[in-house]
Amino acid sequence: MTQPVSQRQRELDALAWFFKYPPHIPDLHCKVAELSDLPALLHLERYCFNPYLAFGRRRWRYLISKSSCSTILLFQQETLVAYLCLLPHQGWCGLEIRALAVHWLHRQKGLGRWLMRLSQHLARQWQLRALYLSVDCENMPARTLYEQLGLQISGQLADYYGLDRHGLRMRFNVVPHIQ
Ligand SMILES: CC(C)(COP(=O)(O)OP(=O)(O)OC[C@H]1O[C@@H](n2cnc3c(N)ncnc32)[C@H](O)[C@@H]1OP(=O)(O)O)[C@@H](O)C(=O)NCCC(=O)NCCS
Repeated sequence: MTQPVSQRQRELDALAWFFKYPPHIPDLHCKVAELSDLPALLHLERYCFNPYLAFGRRRWRYLISKSSCSTILLFQQETLVAYLCLLPHQGWCGLEIRALAVHWLHRQKGLGRWLMRLSQHLARQWQLRALYLSVDCENMPARTLYEQLGLQISGQLADYYGLDRHGLRMRFNVVPHIQ
């Protein structure tokens, strides 16, 4: 059985990917979220998700400071332009994308795809078998992105995002590296 990768090592792996394959957008820097990033995260989240679906301050505080999640941030100067929150499940041998968003002024420039490729790479590197997430059925930009990267629908989530707002569970089976 493979050893779980420590949270610190996971974060270093994400940063290493950024330095090796930086997104094609000038002046970006990548960091792991800390509590001091909460205002920037909440600001971006407020413009990306409706208030019922947004995690909000208390959940983000928990995710950053106490949970096993790793939240990767992309900044351009002082502006947070994208975030990705990943939760590895050793029991299920999978990597869950808990949150993903790109700043409205930086959309359709490849950042969403870059963050998804990072997730796929990390799942493979950490020897997890699958990458999975939930998405609103009506969120066509996100669904198209996920389908383009090979994720497939693995389940229906009735009323998951509110009454008559159905969700989909999507999954990508990770092909292990050949040793
Ligand atoms: C979904 C989201 C992350 C996509 O990020 P992005 O940086 O704009 O995506 P990219 O530029 O990397 O696009 C990659 C692919 O996604 C698809 N896509 C992106 N935006 C799209 C749009 N508005 N309509 C249709 N397809 C779209 C396309 O297939 C695109 O490939 P192409 O460039 O070859 O056409 C972004 O729209 C977002 O942050 N939305 C709000 C938050 C959200 O919905 N998060 C997902 C929750 S599950």
